[in-house]
Amino acid sequence: MSIAVHPDKQMTGVGSTLLGWVIQFVRKAGAHKLEVGTGTFGYQLAFYQRQGFRVTSIDRDFFITNYDERVFEDGIQLLDMLRLTFDYQENRV
Ligand SMILES: CC(C)(COP(=O)(O)OP(=O)(O)OC[C@H]1O[C@@H](n2cnc3c(N)ncnc32)[C@H](O)[C@@H]1OP(=O)(O)O)[C@@H](O)C(=O)NCCC(=O)NCCS
Repeated sequence: MSIAVHPDKQMTGVGSTLLGWVIQFVRKAGAHKLEVGTGTFGYQLAFYQRQGFRVTSIDRDFFITNYDERVFEDGIQLLDMLRLTFDYQENRV
């Protein structure tokens, strides 16, 4: 549901290692696809796409509808959620 690395340890490769581990764990479980959701801007988009995720849909107003408080990133309010999918057929090892 959510992935986060302690701020003191961010940008040291921990998040990429964690995400890579999850991708392999879900692959071994026999899944065909793995889906994540994130805001429509920010470095997180590169974080996921670098590992093979591709944008598949947009969930408009997700952050307004599902959060009690407004969420900001880089001073901009998050409104919509992008859904990105890792397709195991497209990313065979
Ligand atoms: C997203 C997150 C889990 C990535 O974990 P991490 O350990 O920092 O990631 P890595 O060190 O493996 O870096 C992955 C890339 O993200 C970039 N990155 C990480 N944190 C960043 C930040 N605060 N600002 C800008 N870029 C950042 C890194 O520069 C790296 O890119 P590079 O390879 O081009 O240098 C972590 O930054 C985090 O907890 N963020 C806050 C919570 C969050 O946004 N979770 C995701 C919700 S969808």
